[in-house]
Amino acid sequence: MSTNKKATMIIDRDFRVGEVDPRLYGSFVEHLGRAVYGGIYEPGHPTANAQGFREDVLALVKELQVPIVRYPGGNFVSGYDWEDGVGPREERPRRLELAWRTIETNQVGVNEFADWAKLANTEVMMAVNLGTRGINEARDLIEYCNHPGGSYLSDLRKSHGYEEPHNFKVWCLGNEMDGPWQLGAKTAEEYGRLAEETAKVMKAVDPSIELVACGSSGLLMPTFAEWEATVLDHTYEYVDYVSLHTYYGNRDNDTPNYLAQSLGMDEFIKSVIAICDYVKAKKQSKKTLNLSFDEWNVWFHSNEADSKMEPWSIAPPQLEDIYTMEDALLVGSMLISLLRRADRVKMACMAQLVNVIAPIMTETGGAAWRQTIFYPYMHASVFGRGVVLNPLTKSDQYDSKDYTDVPYLDSIAVYNEESEEITIFAVNRNLEGGLEFECSLRGFSDYEVIEQISMSNEDVKATNTALKPNNVAPRSGGNAKLVDGTLNALLSKASWNVIRLAKVGK
Ligand code: AHR
Repeated sequence: MSTNKKATMIIDRDFRVGEVDPRLYGSFVEHLGRAVYGGIYEPGHPTANAQGFREDVLALVKELQVPIVRYPGGNFVSGYDWEDGVGPREERPRRLELAWRTIETNQVGVNEFADWAKLANTEVMMAVNLGTRGINEARDLIEYCNHPGGSYLSDLRKSHGYEEPHNFKVWCLGNEMDGPWQLGAKTAEEYGRLAEETAKVMKAVDPSIELVACGSSGLLMPTFAEWEATVLDHTYEYVDYVSLHTYYGNRDNDTPNYLAQSLGMDEFIKSVIAICDYVKAKKQSKKTLNLSFDEWNVWFHSNEADSKMEPWSIAPPQLEDIYTMEDALLVGSMLISLLRRADRVKMACMAQLVNVIAPIMTETGGAAWRQTIFYPYMHASVFGRGVVLNPLTKSDQYDSKDYTDVPYLDSIAVYNEESEEITIFAVNRNLEGGLEFECSLRGFSDYEVIEQISMSNEDVKATNTALKPNNVAPRSGGNAKLVDGTLNALLSKASWNVIRLAKVGK
C-alpha cells in the first residue's frame, strides 16, 4: 500500500494576501554567547578584516540576503548601558552582564555594529533599554545615533570617528517586558505608560523613525492578550508595530506533533491582529497597526548544556543549538506562516544569526558553516519577494497530540511581478512517504518550471557539523511538470520544497 499522501492547491493571479515587506526576512544579533565575539567579530581569525569582522561569516550572511538585523538584544538590552560600547576601545569597561551571567567586554558597540551592518548589506533594528533604564537614555541614544550634528551627543559620535549619523530607522521599545526573567520587567500598565512617553521623546528627536512596542514574549504567557490590549491602549498612536516572539522545540521527540506547531504560530498571529484591530476600533483610529515577529525559531537542543554553564566567562558557547533536518522543516513552515499573513506581518527576525540558535555556526579560529535551517531561510529570503498569493489548499490530514486536522501540505506562493516569476514554497509533513502535489495556476498562461529544489534526508535527525558541513543540503531536480496550467510534483518524504516558475522564454 502506498504511503504517499495527496494535496491540491489553487492560486490565482488576482487573489492576493499582500506585498511582502523585505524586512520579513530579518535576523537578530544579541550580545549573547558567541554571537558577537567569536561569531561576527573575531580579530585574529584568518578571515578577519582590519576591524576584526570575520569575512567568512559575512559571506554567509550575504547569501541569506538579510535585510535588517535586530541589535543588541534581547534580554541583554534590558541591562545594557550603550555608553559603555562607544569611544576608545581600551577605555571601555568590562561589565557583569546580568541577563546571561557573563562578562561583557564592550569591544563591539553601536558604532562597530553599524559598520558591520554596512558590510553585510543590511539595516539595523536598534533596541533601547527600558528595563534598568528609561526615557532619558533612549533619548540620548537616538541623538547619538541619528542626529546629524551640532548637539552634545551627535558631536560626541563625530569625535568617535562617525561623522555621518547612522540613521537607524527601526527602534524597539525594550524587549520582552512582560517576562519575569527580564531585568526591570514591568506590568502592562507600567510598560504601556513608559513606552508611550519614550516613543514621544524619541520621535521628537527623529520623527522619521518607526517604533516597535513589546507584545507578549509568547502566546502561552499568562498575561497574553490583556498585555497587548493594555500596552496598545497607551501606545497605539505613537508606535508602528507590536512585537511577537515564539520558539518551538521537539522536547518529547514527537515529530508529527512538533511539525504541527506552526499552526500555533498562525493562531498567535491571528490573535495579535485581532487585538490590534480591537484597539483601533476602540480608539476609532484611522491607523492600522502592523506586526513585527522579531524573534522566532527553534530553540531547545542547548537548554540542558546551558543550565550547567558556569557564570562570568567571556563569550561562552550559549544557546548553541545544532539543528536537524526536522528543525528545518518546522522553520520552513514558520516562514510560510509569516508569508501567509504578509499583509500584516511586515517585519520578522529569525533569532538569531550566528552561533546562538542560528543558521550560521562557527568554530573559534576555524570554519563557518550552514546549519540545516539556513536553507529554508535563504530560499524564502532570496525567492520570496513580491506579492503573496492567497492559496486554496486541500490536503490529507492527521491528528497529533496537541493539534487536530494537521495538513500534510504546508504551502504558499509568492508572485514577483517584476521578474514574472512565481515561487511555491512547500513542506511535506508526511514522515512515512511522499506527497502528490497538484497546483492549478489561474491567470498565469505560458508558464514553465525553471527550478525545483528540495531538501530531505532519510534521517530526520541528521545535522550539519564542521566535519560534515554539507550532510543536509538542498538539491535541484525533481519531477515537477506544468501542463495546461496544472503543476504536478511528487514532494519527497519529510521535505522542504521550492518550485520556481517563470514565463516561457523569459
Ligand atoms: O533569543 C534569545 C532570547 O530569547 C532573547 O534574548 C530574549 O528576548 C528571548 O527570550
